[in-house]
Amino acid sequence: VTEPDLAGRHVVVSAGGTREPLDPVRFLGNRSSGKQGYALARTAAARGARVTLIAANTALPDPAGVDVVRVGTAVELREAVLRAAAGADAVVMAAAVADFRPAVYAAGKIKKKDDQDPEPIALVRNPDILAEVAAGRARPGQVVVGFAAETDDVLANGRAKLKRKGCDLLVVNEVGERKTFGAEENEAVVLGADGSETPVPHGPKEALAETVWDLVADRFR
Ligand code: C5P
Repeated sequence: VTEPDLAGRHVVVSAGGTREPLDPVRFLGNRSSGKQGYALARTAAARGARVTLIAANTALPDPAGVDVVRVGTAVELREAVLRAAAGADAVVMAAAVADFRPAVYAAGKIKKKDDQDPEPIALVRNPDILAEVAAGRARPGQVVVGFAAETDDVLANGRAKLKRKGCDLLVVNEVGERKTFGAEENEAVVLGADGSETPVPHGPKEALAETVWDLVADRFR
């Protein structure tokens, strides 16, 4: 039996991965499926929260009873998250946001020219949405949660990132070619700004989601 311990709360969850267009047919993207974010949205709704799910390029069915806002790029994701975060008790950034986007968008399809080397792709930095939400805190006590995929020195890099981003909780998982992306299961450590460290053993993405909401609910009290 699920306790409605998030009743009366509004939570915002981002999910999926941004796509940064080069021209009308090409983009820079990543392998995020959105499954972890959707699991967070489903479990929060089951615990009584009003949930806004900001979904970037996912191919998953809308969870029942959740407001879904669809976006494509990091800039669109930022707009949607900031709008929803204005009245939210918690913001969980599970989306994989591209750190950079092409500096130029070509209105027509980029063509290859015979006997010519390819042009390098110039990139510009995308806004760091998590850091911005954490710095802005739309309301006092708003709980801000980030995710970090690391390939090495997972805990040390996670601690540094938690500080740099200014969030309350950071879910750190180890990624590799066959780990996490698109998988049904996950394994992580949740780091708290208060110094806490909560290991979540290998298991369904739902289980990690429940642990995240347990830690968020603790911070509401
Ligand atoms: O810095 P890094 O990309 O590893 O940080 C990951 C966390 O920051 C995730 O929670 C992601 O949603 C968020 N992020 C963001 N805006 C960016 C890059 C990452 O909100 N431009």
